[in-house]
Amino acid sequence: MKRIFRRVLLSVCIASLAGSGLAGELPRLVTKDGRHALMVDGAPFLMLGGQAHNSSNYPAALKPLWTAAADAGANTVEVPVAWEQIEATEGRFDFSFVDTLVKEARQNKVRLVLLWFGTWKNTSATYSPEWVKFNNQRFPRMLDKEGKDIYCLSPFGEETLKADRKAFVELMKHIKKIDEKQQTVIMVQVENEVGTYNLVRDYGAKAQAAFAQPVPQAVLARKKSPLPGAASGTWSEVYGPYAEEYFHAWAVASYIEEIAKAGRAVYDLPMYVNNALRDPLAPMAPWKDNFASGGPTFDVIDIYKAAAPHIDVAAPDIYMPEWAKVTATVEKFQRPDNALMVPEIGNAENYARYAYLVFGRGGIGFAPFGLDYADYSNFPLGSKLKDKKMAEPFGKVFKVFRPMQRQWAKWAFEGRTYGVAESEERTPQTIEMKGWKATVSFREWQMGEKHFFPNLKDLPADTESPNGGVAIAQIADNEFIIVGQYARVKISGENKRSMYARVEEGYFDASGKWVMERNWNGDQTDYGLNFTGNPVVLKVRLGMY
Ligand code: DGJ
Repeated sequence: MKRIFRRVLLSVCIASLAGSGLAGELPRLVTKDGRHALMVDGAPFLMLGGQAHNSSNYPAALKPLWTAAADAGANTVEVPVAWEQIEATEGRFDFSFVDTLVKEARQNKVRLVLLWFGTWKNTSATYSPEWVKFNNQRFPRMLDKEGKDIYCLSPFGEETLKADRKAFVELMKHIKKIDEKQQTVIMVQVENEVGTYNLVRDYGAKAQAAFAQPVPQAVLARKKSPLPGAASGTWSEVYGPYAEEYFHAWAVASYIEEIAKAGRAVYDLPMYVNNALRDPLAPMAPWKDNFASGGPTFDVIDIYKAAAPHIDVAAPDIYMPEWAKVTATVEKFQRPDNALMVPEIGNAENYARYAYLVFGRGGIGFAPFGLDYADYSNFPLGSKLKDKKMAEPFGKVFKVFRPMQRQWAKWAFEGRTYGVAESEERTPQTIEMKGWKATVSFREWQMGEKHFFPNLKDLPADTESPNGGVAIAQIADNEFIIVGQYARVKISGENKRSMYARVEEGYFDASGKWVMERNWNGDQTDYGLNFTGNPVVLKVRLGMY
């Protein structure tokens, strides 16, 4: 009898856990069949994010951040936690900002990604405490070829690593203490845009000695030599003209690994690094002072994977507005061993359409940078606007994804999703799905085909610059969820005589059930499915005749 009771109780528990996901389980990144999901509360989670400005990491600066996050429909905000603010005096920790941040994030019902601004912030020591910044003896800077100190701290500084690691571990301990139950913090970025400008690597004594050593086996196993027959040996022997950049990437990644590993040992949250990009379209060539050497640029992701197994993702910060560059970047960072996550993208309007591309391709997160309404604009990287008008274009996209973010993340993990963004050429794009093809065209009126009206000069309002985008999830053989803006979508199947059975506009409710608001037919479907500047969600089913 007792045994039966216990069994019933157990199955009740399992059933209730399955309904809500495995609540209590820490956020983590999972990979299956080369696809990825960020699990939060035990289920895939789509990060509709926004990053605060660099100096918004103080309680007084948070209010406009919450307003902006709400305007943007963000479910996650990314906020810096600076080493200088938690350990201004060595060994004395102050987590008052973190406490306020977590408390207010909960009140505003958003999750947090914390950005650890430690040894390196945009490669520099700006956010390390003064006792680190100005003690070159104890915390050595990198040396150039002439032996002169440069601005960037050395990845071979043993004391620097020890001190940064200690502060980071204290931070992770604190987050565990205040947040393990509620899990408001779902991910941590370790350092910020690492690497070094204007110098390919450290020439200090320790670096010189390491550079003369054989390339570690773990690196050799992942990063093949560009030279014929150079399977092992020193960095120069194996990697020739790329040796110095690759060596620096290994040194920086190894340093980050020590920090991430120690942090995860106390509180095991997913961790990632972000990258100031190198040009994804330029022919591959050794470093020529054209990007931050040693950062997780696409060409050294393998080295980061080898040296930093406690880092889940190498993520691109996108400040190149061109469609071809964004597309190439996304393609290079999305790999079976590396989830696509865009932790920073310009907050100018023309970047909003890339959310469809990233979410459609199965990205786990997307966050415009400088989303808070601080009185600061990072134009020309981002928008000149600093108010509601800046958040609005992102808000439009996020608000259609938000009610179905859990379903979308699950479909993406299952490989059912696709996405495109309009290019500067405005040319139509096609999406190959299972048994069906979607053709997405831009600058179309909602009625008729372009060739019906050869003399018509008018073009739809607000399409002067490219801002169209579409994301599709194929949820069954002949059924699709389609979201988009400023685009026309037509679905066809080879050798299929088909027509729409249903084109329902609606939304998913809180329990995940589809709620139909109306069915599109007639003019609304005769010339494709036309999305205006007000994105909507369509549930489309086709039938064959
Ligand atoms: C990328 C960095 O990661 C951010 O912290 C910020 O400095 C932007 N660039 C520029 O606004």
